[in-house]
Amino acid sequence: MSSNAASSSASSSASSAVSSAVSSSSASSATSSVTSSSASSATSGAAAATANTAAAVPTPTGEYVTQPFPYPLNTSIDGYAAHISSNWVTAHQKARARLAGWTQQEKVNLTTGAGWQVGRCVGNINPIPSQNFPGLCLEDSPLGVRDTDFNSAFPAGINAAATFDKDLMYKRGYAMGQEHKGKGVNVALGPMTNMGRVAAGGRNWEGFGADPYLSGWASEQTIKGMQDAGVQACVKHFIGNEQEHYRTTESSDIDDRTMREIYSHPFLRAVAADVASVMCSYNQVNGSWACQNPQILNKILKTDFGFQGYVMSDWQATMSGVSSVNSGLDMTMPGDVVFNSLTSYFGQNLTAAVNNGSVEAARLDDMAERIMAAYYLVGQDAPGYPAVNFDAFRSMQSINNSHVNVQGDHYKLIEEMGAASIVLLKNDGSLPLNQPKSIALIGEDAGPSPLGPNGYGDRGGDSGTLAMGWGSGTANFPYLIDPLMAIATQARKDGTDLNWYLDDWNLDGVMSVAVGAEVAIVCINADSGEDYITVDGNQGDRNNLTAWLNGDAVVQAAASVNNNTVVVVHSVGPLIIEPWIENPNITAVLWAGIPGQESGNGLVDVLYGWYNPSGRLPYTIAKQRSDYPAEVLYESTDPHPQIVYAEGLNIDYRHFLSANITPRFEFGFGLSYTSFDYSNVEIWSNGNAKRWQDENDGIPVGGFLSDKLQAPQWTVQAQVQNVGPVNGCDIPQLYLEYPASAGEPPRVLRDFTKLNLDPGATSTIQFTLSNYDVSIWDVPSQSWVIPDGTFTVVVAKSSFDQGCSTTFCPSGNNC
Ligand code: BGC
Repeated sequence: MSSNAASSSASSSASSAVSSAVSSSSASSATSSVTSSSASSATSGAAAATANTAAAVPTPTGEYVTQPFPYPLNTSIDGYAAHISSNWVTAHQKARARLAGWTQQEKVNLTTGAGWQVGRCVGNINPIPSQNFPGLCLEDSPLGVRDTDFNSAFPAGINAAATFDKDLMYKRGYAMGQEHKGKGVNVALGPMTNMGRVAAGGRNWEGFGADPYLSGWASEQTIKGMQDAGVQACVKHFIGNEQEHYRTTESSDIDDRTMREIYSHPFLRAVAADVASVMCSYNQVNGSWACQNPQILNKILKTDFGFQGYVMSDWQATMSGVSSVNSGLDMTMPGDVVFNSLTSYFGQNLTAAVNNGSVEAARLDDMAERIMAAYYLVGQDAPGYPAVNFDAFRSMQSINNSHVNVQGDHYKLIEEMGAASIVLLKNDGSLPLNQPKSIALIGEDAGPSPLGPNGYGDRGGDSGTLAMGWGSGTANFPYLIDPLMAIATQARKDGTDLNWYLDDWNLDGVMSVAVGAEVAIVCINADSGEDYITVDGNQGDRNNLTAWLNGDAVVQAAASVNNNTVVVVHSVGPLIIEPWIENPNITAVLWAGIPGQESGNGLVDVLYGWYNPSGRLPYTIAKQRSDYPAEVLYESTDPHPQIVYAEGLNIDYRHFLSANITPRFEFGFGLSYTSFDYSNVEIWSNGNAKRWQDENDGIPVGGFLSDKLQAPQWTVQAQVQNVGPVNGCDIPQLYLEYPASAGEPPRVLRDFTKLNLDPGATSTIQFTLSNYDVSIWDVPSQSWVIPDGTFTVVVAKSSFDQGCSTTFCPSGNNC
């Protein structure tokens, strides 16, 4: 949430949502559903009943309509959830011991945020001096520590995804975790792993792209890194928070199979990584507020996934006390009902609810234990955990800010990830550059903003080169290396004559500089962010999918006079680039995303071939906007608009494949300065376990992460050869093609790897597949089922690449 004036629009929309919920949450329907939540009828049949989209979703009134589901208690300590990691078991034991003598009120205090702007972090749990508990500092963002100085500005999540590099994802998480810890943050509010359902979604860049497995791998690696460094991760936003317009009022109506296979999968991987906390989102899910929706909190997250940490609300997303608590919410943030209201759904109201029996005492114990266990999980009880040494709300120069420098040498990783996340989309041989005699560097995006890198609060403006989107998912730049700075440094070494022109609105000027240069490099961008800031009429979500700042015209002007024009794109997401992509004078295109503080250096590494490009598109670039399967809902007369996820499983490339639409550049695509060949794909069963269905006798708590479902059952092997002229990294991708009767999209990503090869060298790669990986979510039986029939495994260069394949028969039936 914002800390500046721009937050007013968020508060007002949130409070209108609150007021409708307040009346309904006190209605008897809420109470009766809580009472019935212990009834066993609330289990699988109920989930099936709520499964299907519009028809199954009652009229949107903001009431509590989702079928109840009981909260699981004591799952790690009492040992009936065999799949829970030993780290959680130990952490819960410690937490239970620590909480033994606490009063009810002290436990309530552990669950209740201190209130908006009370405390030094964006969210605060007050110290509990009577128990010698120092309190908790919760701070954004998913790309670095927000609201402070002497921190790094890392590449955004979308760039981490574009590396398709699990090691770099982990290292980024670790480095960000170190920085949060160094500032005294206990809970870092990331990663963000929503799905990029709509191409124009304002916050897509905070997350990991438009495929659940790519997002899942990235979430898992990021969380492991963050938590290994000692900070609690908070994966967000659970769930269906896929657009900014109406984010605090709309209902994301998601059928059960799509929920399980697409939207919740990255959160399952987060739980597999022992994520400490989960943030529930502002929106409703199938007609109930996400933070009081027992189907997603008690059932999917805490029962099916066996999540052992705590659920916190997004800022002002709590809509009730009793209903929320009994539906699975463990902590309310920032604590007050609406900012500065001096009231809370938790606090005294929670104490009263326990006293009058609306909330079981055991449930309050569970909430406190989950929060305390997460503290122990990452070792924050150890002496020497830094105290908070910055202040998110007071002036940077206030005495609360000790200006602790936490950057270490993270700039190296940031530059490497900047280079590794650049996707080479087109290259007619003009790249890499080789000591060019002259360069014309064109476009506002090539240079600095006159306002400096932090000229707009929460980066809410587009001026100069773009290296971050806007909103709460930001951090201050310590500096920003733009393309001009970095290319100028290289030009000095090479004796290159470098001229530039940064005014996008004077096309004659553009042409006069572009003409005659050995190469014209044109930088363009497109920005988006969170809804509380509107930039140039874009209320978070982008209004269009075209380049900002006259970008297309600038590219075309340069290319009209220079037949060696290289386009560099800094964008939060896909753009329609049809106006110029086939222009023969445009000899290369580099898709650089939003790479953080070392932007220009990473770009130079790729432009000059110091880093052979290996980035891959984490989403599909269409030829026209209408080719995408879903759209932002921009306008509605309904105060609680229904957003029906009618495309189901067919998001992004899945839709392009199933609807037979040729994209401009598909998910997974990316070129290199060399080329690779795949051969000899084989698959074999590891033969060490039964198929899942043989013993599928109901899914126990945490059963989605059980060995039966998740252990590797098949190994896929292939040979990769570098058949081009130079050393480089490749990203072979493992796709699965289900038998048609399974009702899956034509192809789905399951895994990827990155390897480095010298020219001529060959290497063997292996992937594994589990029962889960080859299953579908069967709604009637509420279980994972391996469809009968022949599957194809494909090792390919992208979602559309034919690749190299073989078949297998995981169910053993009908092949
Ligand atoms: C955002 C969250 C963020 C929180 C605290 C909310 O508006 O949706 O992602 O963590 O504010 O700043």
